[in-house]
Amino acid sequence: MNFEYIKVDRAYETNVALIELNRPKELNALNLQLMSELRNALIELDDDEEVRAIVLTGNERAFAAGADIKQMAGKSAIDMLEIDQFSTWDQIKKTKKPIIAAVSGFALGGGCELAMTCDMIVASETAKFGQPEIKIGVMPGAGGTQRLTKAIGKVRAMEMVLTGKFISAEEALDFGLINKVVPVEMCLEEAITLAKTIAFQSPIAVRLAKESVLKAFDSTLEQGLMFERKNFYMTFASEDQKEGMNAFIEKRKPDFKGK
Ligand code: HXC
Repeated sequence: MNFEYIKVDRAYETNVALIELNRPKELNALNLQLMSELRNALIELDDDEEVRAIVLTGNERAFAAGADIKQMAGKSAIDMLEIDQFSTWDQIKKTKKPIIAAVSGFALGGGCELAMTCDMIVASETAKFGQPEIKIGVMPGAGGTQRLTKAIGKVRAMEMVLTGKFISAEEALDFGLINKVVPVEMCLEEAITLAKTIAFQSPIAVRLAKESVLKAFDSTLEQGLMFERKNFYMTFASEDQKEGMNAFIEKRKPDFKGK
């Protein structure tokens, strides 16, 4: 995988892959090429049997400061429609393997939306989350009004989206937007530790469980429960189910093969 604006490291011994956003001078502003590279990397990692969990990170100053304003400034609505950047975002959303965002510094606009598109967020004490699009005459377009509202509730989301104010990592934790806050030098390590814990489980059960949790966002409780039940039954079609339950009974660690 040859990329200009991201770096990909497949750490096979732990079954965890790392993607690093790499436009540091522009605070990892998400231009179209970066997003397309990210989509392609995720498709490849999703297809790679050795990879069981993915960590997405930026650098200490910025996870990502949003979509690239310089690239968007002169565009018309029809240009934006034809560019169809959201098909890239939709593909990211479809990634079957769990993605953990490790966020330090700015996660703003599309950067905050990208972190929220991931399945979990580990943040460092320096992280700042915000949807500041309102200050440049637009509004969130990659899920900010929806995922943020579902995560932290209407009044807090409304304040962030309508004023553009940033929140700290501590506030984000308090509001339920992120999983944990750690010192900056620990952020990536913590995210990788979390990813390794997931990578140790049955990848089939992890995939079906991720799908089921996400189903809760766009289904009624009854539909979600039926979906969950079918996925639960499906886990019994895997060798990993036998391995996991037998390992428990035999008082040993399971060795999940993803079969
Ligand atoms: C393009 C950006 C950028 C962005 C920063 N830069 N954010 N370039 N798009 N989103 C560039 C700056 O122009 C500058 O380049 C360099 O990165 C460093 O940024 P500074 O502003 O000098 O740094 P600082 O003073 O520390 O301020 C940091 C900041 C500020 C608070 C994060 O950069 C900022 O407000 N950025 C924009 C945040 C934003 O509005 N995001 C939402 C974008 S819209 P030069 O060359 O001048 O040194 C969006 C919509 C998503 O995301 C819709 C779905 C796709």
